Amino acid sequence: MIDIQAIRNDFPILQTTVYGKPLVYLDNAATTQKPACVTEQIVRAYSTMNANIHRGVHYLSQQATAAHENARQTVQHFLHAKFQHEIIFTRGTTEAINLVAFSFGEAFCRQGDEIVISGMEHHSNLVPWQMLAERKGLTLKIVPFDDKGELQLETFEAALSEKTRIVALAHVSNVLGTVNPVKEIIEVAHRRNVPVLIDGAQAVPHIPVDVQTLDADFYVFSSHKIYGPTGIGVLYGKESWLNNLPPYQGGGEMIATVSFEKTVYNELPFKFEAGTPDYIGSTALAAALNYVGSIGLEDIAAYERELLAYATEQFATIPDIRLFGTSERKSGVISFLVGNIHPYDMGTLLDRQGIAVRTGHHCAEPLMNLLGVDGTVRASFAFYNTMEEIDRLIAGIKKAVAMFV
Ligand code: ALA
Repeated sequence: MIDIQAIRNDFPILQTTVYGKPLVYLDNAATTQKPACVTEQIVRAYSTMNANIHRGVHYLSQQATAAHENARQTVQHFLHAKFQHEIIFTRGTTEAINLVAFSFGEAFCRQGDEIVISGMEHHSNLVPWQMLAERKGLTLKIVPFDDKGELQLETFEAALSEKTRIVALAHVSNVLGTVNPVKEIIEVAHRRNVPVLIDGAQAVPHIPVDVQTLDADFYVFSSHKIYGPTGIGVLYGKESWLNNLPPYQGGGEMIATVSFEKTVYNELPFKFEAGTPDYIGSTALAAALNYVGSIGLEDIAAYERELLAYATEQFATIPDIRLFGTSERKSGVISFLVGNIHPYDMGTLLDRQGIAVRTGHHCAEPLMNLLGVDGTVRASFAFYNTMEEIDRLIAGIKKAVAMFV
């Protein structure tokens, strides 16, 4: 059971007032707020253990190195990865996908090959593959979703061919909220020896993820969407794949030996971590994951399901409402439009009432084209949100609508 008041007390920013009204923060799919233990860890790390890691023989450097590698282990346990060196720290989901698109593309893709993604991908799981396709003369195949915003396994399977080199897919859609059947899709792809990258940015804050049970080849997420700091994220890759990919960036840290003639690359995970790592961010991410673990993702998921069910019921009371994404397997995201009201107008009127939502194309323009709209309004939940906040949102929308009639 979630103790909602205790949890809210852990997030100082939730006490903010906006235009004199208590903040209702419903833009969690864009970024989550940070509990005090995360911001305290950032201050503690800079105040007590700041030194460049993996380089120094001195005390502080060794402290920082140990903390960074412990953080890697925390992530390993969080994702249930087999090995610690399968966890690569990146700047976020976007950089993790760019890394795979580049390095996998270099090693395994030839002209005429195909890459399969879905129609509901965020730009970060589309543009890097498009860039690879252009660079190497590949074809990008897009698997469509149905009216509820669901991907059908058969449609997915039909998109695979002997030319498919990799599948890249969101675990949870940032617009539709759909939780995709990634385990089944991975099984289908593996039957044809096609590896799968899962974009877990919108999944890991909401549902327990076990990369070994999923049998994912690559799984990526961002710290800032799971209550951790911005600027750091994770690429999980199976050891066998990572060992066979060339480095993405060159520089310090990723080398074993360097001469003017030749460089020998470092072992995993360092081969993919050129430059000074974000050892402050990694320890703050570990604090966030430990915090989430102390509440329990099963309980978080159960509570967020209640929030979503209640919100969906309440949205049905709004005349002229259009919801985008109505899958039964859905996470706490509601994308909507009311009548002809422009999403920016709705977002602005909600903001004046202290309610933060996202408006626009949500970094998924092709998805908006498929839906036949320029943009939507999106309310996205976290476990610190309450039923009363949903009431405020619904009342806020109704008030905004009244201003247009
Ligand atoms: N990916 C983030 C979102 O969906 C920015 O809002």
